[in-house]
Amino acid sequence: MSTPRTALSVSDGHPATLACDALVLASVSVKGQAHLVDGIDLPRGVAASINATLLTLAAQGSADEVIRIAGVAKVKAPLVLVVGTGSDATRHGVSTPDAVERLRRASGVAARALAGKSKAVFALGDATPEQIAATGEGALLGAYAFATFFGEGKKSSAKEPLGEVVLPGLKPRTKDSKSLVLRLGVLAEAVTYARDLVNTPPNELYPESFATSVTRRASKDVGVEVWNTERLIAEGCEGIVGVGQGSAQGPALVKMTYAPRGAKASLAFVGKGITFDSGGLCLKPATGMVTMKCDMGGAAAVAAAIFAIAQLGLPVAVTGYLCLAENMTGDLAQRPGDVVTMRGGKSVEIINTDAEGRLVMADGLALASESHPDAIVDIATLTGACTIALGVRTFGIMGNNEAVIARALAGAAQAGESAWPLPLTEELRASMDSYVADLKHTGDRAGGAMIAATFLAEFIGEDASGEPLPWAHLDIAGPAFNDGSPHGHTPKGGTGAGVRTLVEFAAGYTR
Ligand code: BES
Ligand code: MN
Ligand code: ZN
Repeated sequence: MSTPRTALSVSDGHPATLACDALVLASVSVKGQAHLVDGIDLPRGVAASINATLLTLAAQGSADEVIRIAGVAKVKAPLVLVVGTGSDATRHGVSTPDAVERLRRASGVAARALAGKSKAVFALGDATPEQIAATGEGALLGAYAFATFFGEGKKSSAKEPLGEVVLPGLKPRTKDSKSLVLRLGVLAEAVTYARDLVNTPPNELYPESFATSVTRRASKDVGVEVWNTERLIAEGCEGIVGVGQGSAQGPALVKMTYAPRGAKASLAFVGKGITFDSGGLCLKPATGMVTMKCDMGGAAAVAAAIFAIAQLGLPVAVTGYLCLAENMTGDLAQRPGDVVTMRGGKSVEIINTDAEGRLVMADGLALASESHPDAIVDIATLTGACTIALGVRTFGIMGNNEAVIARALAGAAQAGESAWPLPLTEELRASMDSYVADLKHTGDRAGGAMIAATFLAEFIGEDASGEPLPWAHLDIAGPAFNDGSPHGHTPKGGTGAGVRTLVEFAAGYTR
């Protein structure tokens, strides 16, 4: 995987005096008109002159707006880019992202617009540490490009991502600056890794090659163990084996272990890793299949987050379980009517082979439960129903424990990722009763995201006192893949959804 990376540095020079290809500034929308945000460190008169230009150009300051102004007096950069952050005034009670996330997104828009340039100074906010961090993070996320699979012709003509992002207002070589640059680099690299895994076509990324990629990144801090089909059978993981048996590419379970000394908590992350979801014998229609290489986005998020947590040295132990399989229609493919026994002994009657995610996750959750972690979080592109409920930019959060759900929501908020809770109510379970097995894996169509989560809940183990272990479930079916145009710091294709939420979730246990 050879995605070019964008460098990050800081400078205590004034933004207007720094040598670079472009100076990026931000505007807010006030009554439909763009105005530079207050507090940017610019020479006298520069802000007024840019504001006059924005007025002349009828710039609106809306999110995703990019205004290019060449040759601004008293500014060394030949090009000034003014990116809109939108308005925080809610119209008809519609909620907008918070100011920090709007800055992060605007910064991403600018970085994408600057593809092909070598160096740009990002002076977007009023230079509080939080705003500077969001600016740098958004820029690195927005600069992402996936060019691995272009032929030579396109490769040579395609624009390289922006080479370097400079954050002004910070002294280089201070402890704070160094740790900021390190932290943002780690987060961006993690999101890049998850996006690359999702974007890699499914003929290249299958369970074994996914496991190999993760194994290559193993370090003294992060241990990686891979279970192949034989081992999965021996370990009683029929959920994963059953889904994988219709493919010539066998399934795998990857266990990742980060256990630092002095850990303040132990967490388990479980990720859905269907490297391609054809639907199995209950085949998907062609239109619904095109993007199904993204069905391993949960496992990608877990892998990327654990490497990041380790690189950041967070004092929390995290064990990851990547449940990898390809859902295909080979002659050994699982049939509706089959009964499989999951890790831990529960039997499941197969109804719809396209509801494969919950089957591989059942084994992962049962395995994760065995070491009694303080919390289990799973992340999965689990249901189309969740995208019907919440749209494609918001992931659903469900679970059995208010505190863990609240921590997951807080992690998402901290990361600027949009998330919303859905309830697990007791009546959901009844439609999964089976006459041949402990339960069926599908139930009523209504509330499909919650039905799927209710199925998962069956495989959460108990603590010493017989209480279910604290668990939260993130359904990222919508946000994992952007089938539309790029927006904010989100590119087309794999988005890395959930990576930063998981890192922030873990960080929440260190405070
Ligand atoms: N991988 C899909 C869910 C999905 C849909 C992810 C759209 C990303 C975008 C999942 O395996 C699936 O097919 N779910 C079925 C469940 C149904 C058969 C009960 C669905 O959502 O239709
Ligand atoms: Mn499916
Ligand atoms: Zn699936």
